[in-house]
Amino acid sequence: MVSEIRLYTEQEFQEKAQQYAVVLSSRGVQVNIELVEKLNARFLRLNPELALCVDACGLWLCANGMKMQPDWKAEVGRLKRASLKSEMIARACNLGEKPKLIDATAGLGHDSLLMAQLGAEVTLVERHPVLFTLLEDAHRMAMDDAFLNKAVSRIQLVFSDSAHYLEQQAKLNKVFDVVYLDPMFPQRDQNQQAEKKQAQVKKQMQLLHLILPEDGEMDLGDNLLELAQKIAKRVVVKRPRLAVFLANKEPNHQWQGDACRFDAYFQHDLV
Ligand SMILES: C[S@@+](CC[C@H](N)C(=O)[O-])C[C@H]1O[C@@H](n2cnc3c(N)ncnc32)[C@H](O)[C@@H]1O
Repeated sequence: MVSEIRLYTEQEFQEKAQQYAVVLSSRGVQVNIELVEKLNARFLRLNPELALCVDACGLWLCANGMKMQPDWKAEVGRLKRASLKSEMIARACNLGEKPKLIDATAGLGHDSLLMAQLGAEVTLVERHPVLFTLLEDAHRMAMDDAFLNKAVSRIQLVFSDSAHYLEQQAKLNKVFDVVYLDPMFPQRDQNQQAEKKQAQVKKQMQLLHLILPEDGEMDLGDNLLELAQKIAKRVVVKRPRLAVFLANKEPNHQWQGDACRFDAYFQHDLV
């Protein structure tokens, strides 16, 4: 995981950049701020290595001439169209029951935002310090949005490794309705094809893959399934359509879509 990263900004956002640097340093990432004259597309093309940048819209991850942040406001159109009937994730996670849910692999938080919009009370857990800081920003900005505010107030962010967080909840004898898992999957997988259809999603996933470990050492989250089963009545795992089961464990039920599927594991003894 990154322990040092460069941050580009212009003079007028220097103070803001320093605030982010302090937050990231408290999370174990040393930030080296570099002032640039114009933080524009040309600059990003000429400086393609992985870095952060700060501008009027807050903190961004940038690499290969692209920049990315979890843009929750851009999800509004999709959220307005979403319904318990139309969304497979809603059936898989039983969102009609307004579950208490842990999303143990937050990423950009898009799945959680949709689940909160459809009624879930979400605890969103992310262990990557840069991604977590980006998520915090997205959450803060969405709180000021008249449409998103309601859903976002149902989302609580936790900076932790989920293995640790789930173990802690088990020790406290806490029971949740759902634990949702969407661990990383090697990019060469078939899900790439579906992503090709959505250029924006693809760009975001490319940058996400750049900041997370390479395929060989990628943590595929197998350990999280058993931990989640200890505290949740239902564990739902999002997988690329043809992918192997998480931890090679056959689910009790599956929902199949074109690009991905949801595998569900039920613990009937948990009340
Ligand atoms: C594929 S992304 C999830 C995408 C997410 N569902 C979304 O809608 O944006 C996987 C994320 O899970 C995080 N992750 C993986 N294992 C984790 C763990 N043990 N604890 C916390 N976060 C974890 C990774 O850092 C990465 O950000």
